[in-house]
Amino acid sequence: MLRHLPVVEDARVLVDASSRDDAAVFQVSADRALVATVDFFTPIVDDAAAWGAIAAANALSDVYAMGATPLFALNLVAWPREGVPIALLGDVLRGAAEVSRRAGCLMLGGHSIDDPEPKFGMAVIGEVHPDRMLTNAGACAGDLLVLTKPLGTGILATALKRDALLEAGMAEAVASMTTLNDGAARAALEVGVSACTDVTGFGLLGHLGNILDASRVGAELWLDALPILPHARNLAARGIVPGGTSRNLEAAAPRTTWEGGIEESARILCADAQTSGGLLLVVPPEHHSGLIAALGRAATPAAATIGRITAGPTGTIAVNRERR
Ligand code: CO
Ligand code: CO
Ligand code: CO
Repeated sequence: MLRHLPVVEDARVLVDASSRDDAAVFQVSADRALVATVDFFTPIVDDAAAWGAIAAANALSDVYAMGATPLFALNLVAWPREGVPIALLGDVLRGAAEVSRRAGCLMLGGHSIDDPEPKFGMAVIGEVHPDRMLTNAGACAGDLLVLTKPLGTGILATALKRDALLEAGMAEAVASMTTLNDGAARAALEVGVSACTDVTGFGLLGHLGNILDASRVGAELWLDALPILPHARNLAARGIVPGGTSRNLEAAAPRTTWEGGIEESARILCADAQTSGGLLLVVPPEHHSGLIAALGRAATPAAATIGRITAGPTGTIAVNRERR
């Protein structure tokens, strides 16, 4: 989709789609920039309020991934006129409002259409000081990679859809997906990181790849250090893999080398399409222990050191079994 966008030349545009960053950033004065992002999707859990909460946390995440503060949001609603009770939409909005309230983000309106398949999400506007913005572009060789939520939400949501997992088995995933990335972003800003993104639909390999391309560096990942949700590994080994995850793995193939003997289920986890995933933080080694401590204080669902930035070639990812 992005490559079909016309190119915009305007000095006020600090970040646009060309760096595949999380949100657009538009400077309005010397010390203020607006951050705008939009995200919506079909239900991924059966509980309507939980889905609303997940969608809200996911939409807000792109604001946090830029180091920005959310200001207000507009809802995007697609709902069938018949067949699905309208009361459930009330639950979706209630879940989203609760998460937005936690974020200090005002829900000011939105738009709804009639659609046979429900969809929900938000457009979020935030603000950031142009000098404090976190982007894809600052990673340097030797920096460490830290991930703030476990992987596997795509696999779990697919298992739920195929009745291979009870909703109860999703509890930890739902807790993680409804957790805001605000604490992780605060920790990153407090300590100082060189690049940041959130891990969502393109999976760890895809979003890391965006950082590597924008920063003109490479990376190595340490498989045994990846935080993984319970059940995700087994379900992947049983062949329960979302379509998006398979496409991610295929898309990452040209940039990725795998150490010998790494099984398919582990590769799938590296590519798993995440919903409301964690921040992927690139931190200079001298700030690493400070970052881990700050993430601990913020009680992020994970604070795992999963790899390191290398000199390149640009964009390449070497996946090793463990840290060497
Ligand atoms: Co993002
Ligand atoms: Co997004
Ligand atoms: Co309208």
